[in-house]
Amino acid sequence: MKFFIDTANLAQIKEAQDLGVLDGVTTNPSLMAKEGITGKDNVLRHYKAICDIVDGDVSAEVIATDYDGMIREGEELAELDDKIVVKIPMIKDGIKALKYFSERGIKTNCTLVFSAGQALLAAKAGATYVSPFIGRLDDISFDGIELIEQIRLIYDNYEFDTQILAASVRHPMHIIKCAEAAADVMTGPLSAMLALLKHPLTDSGLSQFLADHAKANS
Ligand code: E4P
Repeated sequence: MKFFIDTANLAQIKEAQDLGVLDGVTTNPSLMAKEGITGKDNVLRHYKAICDIVDGDVSAEVIATDYDGMIREGEELAELDDKIVVKIPMIKDGIKALKYFSERGIKTNCTLVFSAGQALLAAKAGATYVSPFIGRLDDISFDGIELIEQIRLIYDNYEFDTQILAASVRHPMHIIKCAEAAADVMTGPLSAMLALLKHPLTDSGLSQFLADHAKANS
């Protein structure tokens, strides 16, 4: 399973990249706003800065919600760098835009997906990635992981190439459950990735090894 970091924060992206397990980045307009990135030129510059840090795909979301606007913005984003994946919302014009980009070999990520039917449409339109938001489903008492399992089954039934990018991942158990459900990618915060490191027996075991080594070598 690929690990994407879900942030527009350059320091966190760099920290994850330095860890050596990062496969890409996802952003969204809220995450860009959180970093104070405003105005078209700054936004484009920031995406380019992210691309310069990471080795993998970088999702950059369009703001337009009409077909022509999405095509215009998406083409401009895609020209920035080969790593750019144009992120398109799951709306009617979005489906048409996914098809347009897929026919031109431009990578896409269909975002704000909350049902198997939406995921099926995104795959049929040729999306490179589909982003089911599992944390937001859990927030309203729907099972996000169950949705990943359902999409996996559907995509495997028809050998769709679209990759399942489990989004809105919030904690380490989400990551583990996504891996069990055979998601292709998960995107989450750095804190969730780092939390995978932690086990009390690792910490106590290491302390014991170091203490025994120090005693034997004193
Ligand atoms: C997906 O690409 C989104 O950026 C993201 O995962 C949303 O996560 P949230 O529900 O924690 O805001």
